[in-house]
Amino acid sequence: MIKLQPYLLPVIALVATGISSPLFSQKTSVKDIDARVEALLVKMTLDEKIGQLHQVPGDISTGTDVAKDDLLTQIKAGKVGSILSHTNFDNKIAMQRAAVGTRLGIPLIFGFDVIHGYKTIFPIPLAQAASWDMGAIERAERIAAEEASADGQNWTFSPMVDVSRDPRWGRVMEGAGEDTYLASRVAVARVRGFQGDDLSKNNTLAACVKHFAGYGFAEAGRDYNTVDMSEQRLREIVLPPFKAAADAGCATLMNAFNVLNGVPASMDKHLLTDILRGEWGWKGMVVSDWNSFGETIIHGAATDEADASAKCLSAGSDMDMAGGTFQKGLKKALESGRVTQAQIDEAVRRVLRLKFSLGLFDDPFRYLDPKRRAATLEKPEYRLAARELAANSMVLLKNEGGLLPLRPDGPFKKIAIIGPLADSRSNKNYMSFWTLGLGDVSQYDTTKVVTPGMALKSSLEEAGFEVTITEICFNADCTEKDFSAALKATAAADLTIVCVGETGIDCGESRSVTDLNLKYNQEIIMKIAARGNMPTVMALFNSRPMTFQWASENIPAILVCWQPGFEAGNALADIITGAVNPSAKLPVTFPRSVGQVPIYYNALSTGRPQQQQGQMWTSGYLDSPTSPAYPFGFGLSYTTFSYSDIKLNKTKLRTGETLEVSVTVSNTGQHAGEEVVQLYIHDPAADIARPVKELKGFEKIKLDTYESKTVTFRLTEQDLGYWNHELKFKADPGKFKVFVGGNSRDVKEAGFEIVR
Ligand code: NOJ
Repeated sequence: MIKLQPYLLPVIALVATGISSPLFSQKTSVKDIDARVEALLVKMTLDEKIGQLHQVPGDISTGTDVAKDDLLTQIKAGKVGSILSHTNFDNKIAMQRAAVGTRLGIPLIFGFDVIHGYKTIFPIPLAQAASWDMGAIERAERIAAEEASADGQNWTFSPMVDVSRDPRWGRVMEGAGEDTYLASRVAVARVRGFQGDDLSKNNTLAACVKHFAGYGFAEAGRDYNTVDMSEQRLREIVLPPFKAAADAGCATLMNAFNVLNGVPASMDKHLLTDILRGEWGWKGMVVSDWNSFGETIIHGAATDEADASAKCLSAGSDMDMAGGTFQKGLKKALESGRVTQAQIDEAVRRVLRLKFSLGLFDDPFRYLDPKRRAATLEKPEYRLAARELAANSMVLLKNEGGLLPLRPDGPFKKIAIIGPLADSRSNKNYMSFWTLGLGDVSQYDTTKVVTPGMALKSSLEEAGFEVTITEICFNADCTEKDFSAALKATAAADLTIVCVGETGIDCGESRSVTDLNLKYNQEIIMKIAARGNMPTVMALFNSRPMTFQWASENIPAILVCWQPGFEAGNALADIITGAVNPSAKLPVTFPRSVGQVPIYYNALSTGRPQQQQGQMWTSGYLDSPTSPAYPFGFGLSYTTFSYSDIKLNKTKLRTGETLEVSVTVSNTGQHAGEEVVQLYIHDPAADIARPVKELKGFEKIKLDTYESKTVTFRLTEQDLGYWNHELKFKADPGKFKVFVGGNSRDVKEAGFEIVR
């Protein structure tokens, strides 16, 4: 006999009677959803409510930490609201079946870290930000959402929008870099890509903006460490990308692991209730980070699970990821009067609302269709998008004498490709921590990576070059044996491409470092390749700004490839051969040495700015210039661009008016190319000290050889305002500077005034 699932009963009743049931109609308006949520909430027991707030990692066969019990049993008992990090498609169907078979038939929501692609692996998020191409980033997330949703995921823990000025912090790879404006634009693109225009469609994912807040400012760049910052800085630098994501309709938000100004972020009422839900009026659902409710006890800010539950729930957090703290403590917290039933109901409402918005009540299996899965995963056009974005993310830092691109009619015929990252298929190279796998998660197959060696060999040989690939220092420090191999390979070549950098597993959560130099003796390999000024290209595969002062001084061509994903080799070949003209710009400052960290373009001026190194009684170092190795926004092209002087439509700006800032950019070189035109401002006469430059606009434009285009940016008082020391957002009357250029250092300048 077929057992009718409770969730189907109202549908059958509806068909039979023709009367519409508010709980199971197809409409997704907010009002309608709210009515359905309330109708369900009144039927729920306390245990069922607490179950909805419980998110469990794992696999049916592995059980959970909740009660050392089988996960399926937990689901059947109505104790689980969500599953995370689960990849087995059939198991997801079995789990969903178990959930809809419960008394109230509330479906599960499946969450997953879709960080840089799902099955088709794109460049790491920091690389994507280097493209400054919001359309391409949105498309990448659309593809990731297509794949993940077809594989049964409903919810991604992305975008991470944590601004960071610290390359020691491993998770710098997961954000959009050091600038709050760029990070805000990227946040919106990502949310749009994941969520599309309708969350209830079966090809969209709920997005989760994270980590709220301050996580990127961990002291000493050590992951999970303390964060202490003024509220002024918090509002000016850290919060805007969260606000941008919230305004773009991001469905969920994740707490941060860190303590912010003494308070663990998961129990920070000021952040979660006053700012997020109060000032911003955001209506979504807040999930903890992995056991971050439980970690409030380790921070010493809660005494036990009941105390932690009370503090986190009352602060405004809703769902408990992985730790089981609510399972252990929330009922006790209610019984002892530390939380109210109304507070629990409110959190449950937010979870149910999310499930209704995703259409899970209308059809709990709408993301679990095997046919759609088979037709959607890893389409060839997805790889093409990954290749384009990877190439458009690669930043050309140096190209002395126009060494690149390599042309068949040029002086170099014999090309040696050497280095530990020339042709590697281990250590998740060219990818990241996020492709490493958590527990049962094994989404990623390294055989799918196109290595630099593979792609360069075929494309260069096709163009008439002779190519050798020498894989050295494989998974270990480079030693004498590798040095001899490098010597031999390069002796026979006209030009060497040295592929160096970080392994994929050096990159991501919990991967903080104290040294940004190349490890494993890789610099010696470069010294061998470039001996006697031999033409050498350094292709750097990295997840963070690194330091390579020797290479900057001695290697003629340097390309930052980041961790480019599956299409690493093809994208590199596109750049090396000139099929793609580099157009990416650094979304983070590259320091000269780790001792300069934190170093970022939008710093305040000291009272004693240094003009040159060694100038005493000024703010500098005895042993280093203060300037970075490469500034924020920097990146070369195979062509050159010139900027006209800035034209303003007015020099006095009154309230309500718009300032138009125009420049004409010309392609003065031999290749068509793209340029990221960047606009910065400076307020030199404010109530408090203001950054020497602040990015307020950018536009990526395409220019044919010798073509010119005029770019016009529009600024209003809102763009010129800031949070002052009394936490008032205001724009000051008086003088302003405006700058436009191709990076944060080399700019044209003009002045205007705000008058009242
Ligand atoms: C911990 C990470 O901080 C967070 O970003 C991630 O989403 C969760 N783990 C789940 O994997």
